[in-house]
Amino acid sequence: MIAKPKGTYDLIGLDAKLYNYIYNVVQGYMDNYNYEFIRTPIFEASELFHRGVGETTDIVTKETYDFIDRGERNLTLRPEGTAGVVRSVIENKLYGNQNGPLKYYYFGTMYRYERPQAGRYREFSQMGVEVFNANDPMIDAEVISLGYNLLKELGIEKFTVHLNTLGDLTTRQNYTAALKKYLKPHLAELCPDCQKRYETNPLRIIDCKADKDNDVLKNVPKISDYLTDESKALFTKLKELLTILDIDYEIDERIVRGLDYYDYNVWEYVTDDANISLGGGGRYNNLVKTLDGPDMPAVGFAFGIDRVITELKNILGSQEFTNNVDVYIMSVNDEEKMQALRIAQDLRLNNVMTEINSNNLSLKSQFKMADSLKAKFLVILNSDDLQKGLVNIKDNVTKEEVKIDEGEIVDWILGNI
Ligand code: HAM
Repeated sequence: MIAKPKGTYDLIGLDAKLYNYIYNVVQGYMDNYNYEFIRTPIFEASELFHRGVGETTDIVTKETYDFIDRGERNLTLRPEGTAGVVRSVIENKLYGNQNGPLKYYYFGTMYRYERPQAGRYREFSQMGVEVFNANDPMIDAEVISLGYNLLKELGIEKFTVHLNTLGDLTTRQNYTAALKKYLKPHLAELCPDCQKRYETNPLRIIDCKADKDNDVLKNVPKISDYLTDESKALFTKLKELLTILDIDYEIDERIVRGLDYYDYNVWEYVTDDANISLGGGGRYNNLVKTLDGPDMPAVGFAFGIDRVITELKNILGSQEFTNNVDVYIMSVNDEEKMQALRIAQDLRLNNVMTEINSNNLSLKSQFKMADSLKAKFLVILNSDDLQKGLVNIKDNVTKEEVKIDEGEIVDWILGNI
């Protein structure tokens, strides 16, 4: 037997049902906010992620799936969705002459060569949104609240938005200098990765998982003390807007995010009990320019769908998503089976979930099958009645039976389910 690759999993059973449920809710939901669907390739030029996500990030240094194709091109399976959407906006000149924001959402698989564990896979799915040509904190508030309300709509209640700001370039330069000065005497106490990050990406030391409980990190300087007036004013405005929108948020200065493109506001949606990050995002005003596009501020976030599925399973249990068939059509001989198939088509075209006996089951087994599918009605065919144009319908709960004209089945069922 050939096994699935490490860190991947088959989407089956309840997980598959919840995936479709999320997908369907998202589609309707994004229309309300006037976001357009976009799909970009699963593989892109490797350079896109090196320049986009950042040379020194964990993702680019340790986690990408890189390959050379038969035409000698350096390609990478996308580790996240933002860089590809930015590339598409630039390449297709989607920004055109627009005055207003460009709003996109996507759904798809991402690939990171991470150490597999609960909630961390090598192939995983994200749903994300990206808004371009948008500088006002109103858009940050819209995007943050969109994700917040979407999780609630899906049935997840117990989470909080962990919010931080990385400020502008001056803020980050001043803060990074202060952080390095503070950390220098403690370098030996940090994990080996953080010792490297000290030179390459010191901000990431703050949210290091290995050093989470290290006392050194408990007393690091606070970025809020280094914000320029402009950065502070923007953050204050955003907090006001989130309060107006009734969003549960808390300031969490450990949120610095693992990708290099962020500036100003960053946030994560974190579950209250297990502290799991269901999604995260932020503003990235320089990425479009870095990837050779126009100077265009942007903001976005992505949910990890696999983690959202796990959270929904914890909340809902398995009962909510079992298939409850509306009608099971019972047939034994060839004539009955042909009619069963035709009646099933009529019902299915009228949005009635219908199942038939396609496996030559005995009548007794068909009754059992109908019960296991939780069928509400049984349509019981027999040749004698069919010749008179009649069919029997049995309510599988009350056990009441009626005999009606075959031509009235659809109307009868629609009137009774
Ligand atoms: P990210 O924080 O790297 O951000 O990923 C977003 C979410 O994807 C995480 O919060 C998590 O739920 C999920 N995720 C990440 N890695 C894994 C994994 N190995 N297995 C399962 N789930 C995972 C981004 O990807 C940014 N592109 C978000 C963004 C959009 N920022 C601006 N626009």
